[in-house]
Amino acid sequence: MQVSNSEELEIEARIDSLLEGLALTEKIGQMTQVLHFEDQTEGEIKAGRIGSVIHTQGPLPGNGPREWQERFRKLQELALSSHPRIPLLFGVDAVHGQNTFEGATIFPHNIGLGATQNPDLVEKAAAITAMETQATGFNWVFSPCIAIPYNEKWGRVYEAFSESTKLTNSLTAASIRGHQGKLSEAHTVMATAKHFIGDGSTEYGVEGGVTTLSETEIKERLLPPYSAAVASGVGAVMASFNTFEGIPMHAHKNLITGVLKEGMQFDGIMLSDWKGYSRFGEADIINAGIDMVMAVDGDLELFQNGLKKAVETGYVPMERIDDAVRRILRQKFRLGLFENPYPRETFIDSIGTQQHRDVARQAVRESLVLLKNEKNLLPLRPDSGKIVVVGAHAHNAGLQSGGWTIDWQGTDRNYTGATTILEGIQKISEAEVIYDPEGAGKHADADVAIICVGEPPYAEFFGDIGHESNTLQLELSAKQRAYIEHYQGQGVPTVVVLLSGRPMVITSEIKKANAFIAAWLPGSEGDGIAEVLFGKYNFKGRLPHSWPASLDDFKGKYGPNYWQDSIEPMFPLGYGLSYD
Ligand code: BGC
Repeated sequence: MQVSNSEELEIEARIDSLLEGLALTEKIGQMTQVLHFEDQTEGEIKAGRIGSVIHTQGPLPGNGPREWQERFRKLQELALSSHPRIPLLFGVDAVHGQNTFEGATIFPHNIGLGATQNPDLVEKAAAITAMETQATGFNWVFSPCIAIPYNEKWGRVYEAFSESTKLTNSLTAASIRGHQGKLSEAHTVMATAKHFIGDGSTEYGVEGGVTTLSETEIKERLLPPYSAAVASGVGAVMASFNTFEGIPMHAHKNLITGVLKEGMQFDGIMLSDWKGYSRFGEADIINAGIDMVMAVDGDLELFQNGLKKAVETGYVPMERIDDAVRRILRQKFRLGLFENPYPRETFIDSIGTQQHRDVARQAVRESLVLLKNEKNLLPLRPDSGKIVVVGAHAHNAGLQSGGWTIDWQGTDRNYTGATTILEGIQKISEAEVIYDPEGAGKHADADVAIICVGEPPYAEFFGDIGHESNTLQLELSAKQRAYIEHYQGQGVPTVVVLLSGRPMVITSEIKKANAFIAAWLPGSEGDGIAEVLFGKYNFKGRLPHSWPASLDDFKGKYGPNYWQDSIEPMFPLGYGLSYD
């Protein structure tokens, strides 16, 4: 932890005296996290029965940042004017910038940051995210996701940095340094390493499915990023939805208390995920080591009454409750919330500034992985005669940003402050730039077609391939595949820019295209792409995942037989070309 020993001792003493004055209902209150807009929220805060408030999908806290701050200021005032006068933690899913606030700087999703392999840049991105998050009233983010995705069918692959444990370790530490700084500094927020553990390695890539890895595999591949997070002083860890060894992770005492808290000496808050109490064994999850519960969406009473009863009957020991509350208070003290509980107006002007966007643009540039460049088609000459830019993904900030952008499952519109790929090309190129959203235009006289294809936005559950509510595939749609042939048929050289949250099977498209770029989900600064296509900067990105050649490869690479069937990927982890 970044606070000195004497400060730590003072904090523990302050906790001791606070704990003495708390009734059981207030202790359980500290362990309770609710949504800012639910009916009971204000009354419960006033009654001293809430420890934390979150914003994720659902009604916004207001219009502009001042209104957002106002909302959380009001809730904080309620908490501080009623016994036990303990400040609230305000948490938000800011996972690639303050992505719940339209107008904030949106960074590439973690998979793109993984491709940069640049811890300094990841640290800067996290520090900016922290500042813009503070500016909208929060002191806590549910980020970074430090999963090691084993299966590209999982709809959250893009939330994690890489399939490489080593790379994930270093970017995890950087992200936590960036978000938390010295924790009590005005512009920083508490970070959350998530989801503990095995979220990205369920069979068939199902969110909340069954993780069948052995304990050794968990230890060697999945746990090291958590050691890195704890060593960097991460304030919170969130439990995952999946099951391991037949036990829901929320109730896995051996891993949560044994490995994470005792083994790694994690002294922060172990947070449940969404409705963790009603979903995963109620009081068992508290006994397993969950300290704070997302008691949202109708779970509030069930949690508070259920836990109270479990303590009264002795099923949950009082020491466990005291330990949970101690951990929560410890982080509130470390964050300096008792001294500075309110959102600070000073940061409002930092939202979406050019300076912040420049860092995001650098991250976009460094995340691009060049997979093919036949006859040095790239870099493009700014003075080419005519350029056709093809596909809906070329001019839609929502599509280029993926899930957890403005809305939970993402958006398919151009949101405030973002630049699209087409706009970036128009800024840089002196050529005639034609936009062909449907990929059906006749432009045989064009010098090059820049074809932007990829996935629609998605987030948890809805992004799993095979999830009943979607038609997602690991291959491009037939319509998008036809764009390449359409332009090749006219004798126009093609550059394909793939916007996706995971490696996709693009073997035949790679063969056909003259140049091919994996651009991941770059976020709001689409012009970073043009800057590299036109050679203002070189390609630096390296694959954060090995890239399968066929759909069959996924079966061998991932799933229950991961360790038996090794595959020869089309491109190995770390692959990426650059200009000479
Ligand atoms: C997700 C978490 C997220 C939480 C709060 C859950 O469904 O798994 O990653 O932080 O919701 O929105």
